[in-house]
Amino acid sequence: MRFELTEEQSLVLATARDFAKREIEPKAASLDREARWPSEIIAQMAELGFLGMAIPEAHGGAGLDYLSYALVVEEVSRACASTGVIMSVNNSLFCDPIYKFGTDDQKARVLAPVASGKALGAFGLTEPSSGSDARTMKSVAEQQPDGSFVLNGAKNWITNGPHAEFILVFAVSTVDPVKPRHTALLLQKGMPGFTVAEPDHKLGIHAAHSATIFFDNVRVPKENVVGEVGGGFKVAMATLDGGRIGIAAQAVGIAQAAFEKAVAYSKERESFGGVIANLQAIQFMLADMATELEAARLLVHRAATLKDQGKKHNAEASMAKLFASEMATRVAHKAIQVHGGYGYSTEYDVERHYRDARITEIYEGTSEIQRIVVANSLLRE
Ligand code: CAA
Repeated sequence: MRFELTEEQSLVLATARDFAKREIEPKAASLDREARWPSEIIAQMAELGFLGMAIPEAHGGAGLDYLSYALVVEEVSRACASTGVIMSVNNSLFCDPIYKFGTDDQKARVLAPVASGKALGAFGLTEPSSGSDARTMKSVAEQQPDGSFVLNGAKNWITNGPHAEFILVFAVSTVDPVKPRHTALLLQKGMPGFTVAEPDHKLGIHAAHSATIFFDNVRVPKENVVGEVGGGFKVAMATLDGGRIGIAAQAVGIAQAAFEKAVAYSKERESFGGVIANLQAIQFMLADMATELEAARLLVHRAATLKDQGKKHNAEASMAKLFASEMATRVAHKAIQVHGGYGYSTEYDVERHYRDARITEIYEGTSEIQRIVVANSLLRE
């Protein structure tokens, strides 16, 4: 495995770093405080090609690779974790499966506008009573004699839900208590019977709006089936293999921001006759933070590279997400500790990083689910 970025990847990284520093970071605290959807930043990211990064240009994307995507998610999340997840869901959870499993018609009609950022996409798997055990979802898509489906049910915590034009929804198409089969369906805002609730209230990532979505006898044409009828669960799982790399990169970005702020503060704050950076208690914390951050970043780059090479990457994506998300919480926790009482104040960014880090251990599969995926892979080999 190589550790050097290509010239193109380095250029993408530099562009993202500069953009995030200039255009996103100055707004991040107020976006969080006001829970404001960053529409102007999303428009700028569309211009830069950040909304469909690993999708070929012929389908509206930037034609780059998944490692470049992970690099950009890290930089964007380092500035603002909310913006990072909006971008990640659009790229990994919407564009990626439509590109991989969609028909030519779906690529022209749906992928092109979403990958180019003219419209946003969302992913509907989780339900009020089925999160980790995704197979037990209750939404039902009943096939009609003409091949279309009638969809009933609800999906919750749908990131981008209040603003997305399209959503990829998973529903039971063959009801069976032992082995239900699922089908992936494309829904568009405005379809009769499709309603979106008010945005959720959350601990962190306040600017990344999520909501519950209800389906009441929504008629979905057969042209909107993504993949095989009955093959939807595999579409969901394969999609999450890529999505988890995006969330792992988001976690690294959040941790990087918290770490940098801890280093800067330690060089300013005086205590016991000098700056606290001189104290071994602080130095040991900073050394642990830096080491864990670097280890997580390498796991993310390895998983992204395997995906780029078309190799199996599900356990590697789960390892990256498991380690990076728990690392981000530890690093943000220590960043608050380095700041002492000020770290607990909303005047300093580290409390936001701490709240934002926490979700990375939960969405796109909790840490416990990542351990299941890793263990299943180990025991199968
Ligand atoms: N790729 C393709 N197919 C896969 C796969 C993969 N990585 N993993 C499993 N499958 C297939 C299996 O081959 C199997 O196929 P058959 O039915 O044909 O045999 C099928 O999927 C079921 O596999 P399992 O028996 O392993 O499934 P399970 O019921 O035991 O569940 C699980 C496995 C890993 C626990 C899964 O339910 C899971 O990932 N749960 C977590 C759900 C999750 O991550 N939700 C996140 C929601 S999205 C989100 O959070 C977005 C956001 O807000 C930002």
